[in-house]
Amino acid sequence: MTTLVIGARGAVGRHVVAGLQAAGTPVRASVRDLSKADFGPGVDVVQADLTRPETLPAALDGVDHVFLYAEPSGAADFGKAALVAGVERVVLLSSGSVLVPWATNNPIAVEHRMTEELLAGSGPELVPIRPLVLANNARNWAWSIKSERTVRLVHPESVSAPIHERDIAEVALAALSGAEPREVSALLTGAEPLMLREQVGLIAAAIGEPITVEEIDETRAREMFDVGEPEVVEAILHFVRRGTEADGWYRTDTFERIVGRPPLPFATWAADNVAAFR
Ligand SMILES: NC(=O)c1ccc[n+]([C@@H]2O[C@H](COP(=O)([O-])OP(=O)(O)OC[C@H]3O[C@@H](n4cnc5c(N)ncnc54)[C@H](OP(=O)(O)O)[C@@H]3O)[C@@H](O)[C@H]2O)c1
Repeated sequence: MTTLVIGARGAVGRHVVAGLQAAGTPVRASVRDLSKADFGPGVDVVQADLTRPETLPAALDGVDHVFLYAEPSGAADFGKAALVAGVERVVLLSSGSVLVPWATNNPIAVEHRMTEELLAGSGPELVPIRPLVLANNARNWAWSIKSERTVRLVHPESVSAPIHERDIAEVALAALSGAEPREVSALLTGAEPLMLREQVGLIAAAIGEPITVEEIDETRAREMFDVGEPEVVEAILHFVRRGTEADGWYRTDTFERIVGRPPLPFATWAADNVAAFR
């Protein structure tokens, strides 16, 4: 029963590999660049790139289950290759945005929905897991916290219930081992609704130093986040703006129902990540 983890160096994928190893499940870890593989002993490492279908047959040989990241351009080819290899179940790290009614046309939701549809239409049983907001997004503040002890925030009162990557991996592991697809594919959030400025406060507490929050407007945010993908910036701004409205954020009990304990608090995420902010 070998499980292939595509994106095994990812923040979530890394914990999926560790969980499979802890459970004694044979695991194969894929990376796009073999020179970057940094796994411990006992992990079979292969090269696989979802945008290069020719890399998939060897990676999938003898594999029963797969965990993978959303990459719409490679999804249909991946589904076909997984079917040929005899894979039984594919667990996709999708996005809760596909379940949010007001986000139907948000490009992040569109991209993840497209990946789900392409995989479901071309390959083995697909079980998407759908976290809405990753706690790891706060790593985007690492540079300015490290260098200036300041975070520039658009809509600092925007609320979300971010989820720790370790908890997402636990849900992925449940999905890989056959948990009821309707349950594991439900909207997945952390336990605590937190304003962005409250997340900064919890990081400040974790590093033991004050951090200044400087509010910026959307125009300044667009300039600061100009990374060549304006539609992604607009998609993120859409979510942040909606988080300032009473019906614009979500907290679900999906994690607790699947795993049987409450999600890890954001303070734990901050403590686990202090090295990124000091
Ligand atoms: N940000 C949010 O709030 C949010 C909300 C809902 C869902 N999500 C989903 O969560 C993902 C981020 O998760 P994360 O933090 O664990 O990601 P991450 O740490 O950035 O890792 C991404 C992984 O994907 C792999 N990958 C990327 N493109 C690939 C390709 N073409 N072929 C094979 N592998 C590929 C990378 O592999 P290499 O090691 O080879 O580079 C890497 O291991 C987002 O991309 C999104 O789909 C995010």
